[in-house]
Amino acid sequence: MRTAIYPGSFDPVTFGHIDIIKRASAMVDKLIIGVLRNSAKTPLFSVEERVNMLREVTEGIDNIEIQSFDGLLIDFAKSVDAHIIVRGLRAVTDFEYELQLAQTNKAVYPDIDTLFLVTSVVYSYLSSSVVREIASYNGDISKFVPECVTEKLKEKFDK
Ligand code: PNS
Repeated sequence: MRTAIYPGSFDPVTFGHIDIIKRASAMVDKLIIGVLRNSAKTPLFSVEERVNMLREVTEGIDNIEIQSFDGLLIDFAKSVDAHIIVRGLRAVTDFEYELQLAQTNKAVYPDIDTLFLVTSVVYSYLSSSVVREIASYNGDISKFVPECVTEKLKEKFDK
């Protein structure tokens, strides 16, 4: 059984993430979306909120599991017997950080490989932080995130 992990903060999930999820899930038997709990960044959404949004927007994709994790990604990978990490590459600016992450993970756990999927051009500019910023100024984010995520962002910023 080929199991892969797609890790990230998903704060919140965007159409760019969903694009990667659909394409990666078609390549493996099981795709585990790993939602980082202990990020150095202070997330807008709690880990439970981020997991629930991911559940909602991936409904109907059968071979997906959503789990939160703490600590090192490779320890999480070992615990779920995954040997592939999936990451999306949007632009050259992502590359240096992603290369460092992939090489460090490989050095610590040689049985792991990172599979980079190039983000579809229409989403190449998209990031959760940009979505949060636009939403905080009450801007239109309907092109960037599903309706249910838009609603959750509105609830956050209307408080
Ligand atoms: O969506 P993000 O914030 O770009 O995802 C980053 C993530 C979760 C992949 C990365 O921060 C991570 O793997 N964190 C877990 C801690 C870890 O393993 N760090 C060592 C990597 S060199």
